Amino acid sequence: MSPSPHLHTPRLQLRPLRQTDQGFISSLLGDAQVRQFLGGAVDLQRRSAAVAAYFSGEEGETAWLVQTGIGQLPLGLVHLSPHWDEPCLELSYQFAPGAWGKGYAIEAVQCVRDHVLQDRKQERVLAETQAANTASCRLLQRLGMTELRRLQRFGAEQVIYTTAP
Ligand SMILES: CC(C)(COP(=O)(O)OP(=O)(O)OC[C@H]1O[C@@H](n2cnc3c(N)ncnc32)[C@H](O)[C@@H]1OP(=O)(O)O)[C@@H](O)C(=O)NCCC(=O)NCCS
Repeated sequence: MSPSPHLHTPRLQLRPLRQTDQGFISSLLGDAQVRQFLGGAVDLQRRSAAVAAYFSGEEGETAWLVQTGIGQLPLGLVHLSPHWDEPCLELSYQFAPGAWGKGYAIEAVQCVRDHVLQDRKQERVLAETQAANTASCRLLQRLGMTELRRLQRFGAEQVIYTTAP
């Protein structure tokens, strides 16, 4: 796992994961709504290994816990990892349903996108999402990311969005 620098936005703090986040991460992984386009809820038998994977990620992976600036209420996760096909980083994100519809996710994803482009000086960053995941597609389009291509993966049509062609 690569180190996750502390980042912030007007409303949010993005910080490295702590062992005490395990319960929150487990609740995200076990939530059928959150996992609707991510292969479904992770069942209890596989849950602790899936949570542990967030703490022992491969080199090149970075994860942030997103929390409110006031009150430090955990809202979601933003994750960076090498993309499956392209030689660049991919952004992924999952937020608790109670945090949807408030613009928190886009604020956090924009912050990590800017970190990759400005601090890490990468030429581009990708995000891959199911075409059926309209909330996720909308978020990426609102950030000005454009469609690179579509493909079938994990049994579903996926759209790859990019910050630059
Ligand atoms: C994808 C996901 C992060 C989108 O969350 P979201 O809250 O809809 O996204 P945003 O942060 O962009 O919020 C946008 C909504 O908040 C509303 N909003 C309210 N206050 C706002 C504010 N201050 N700023 C911006 N938007 C605000 C917007 O109007 C918009 O509503 P709309 O989509 O009905 O038009 C969320 O659905 C999720 O976690 N899904 C499960 C995991 C997943 O599928 N991840 C994607 C695969 S990588």
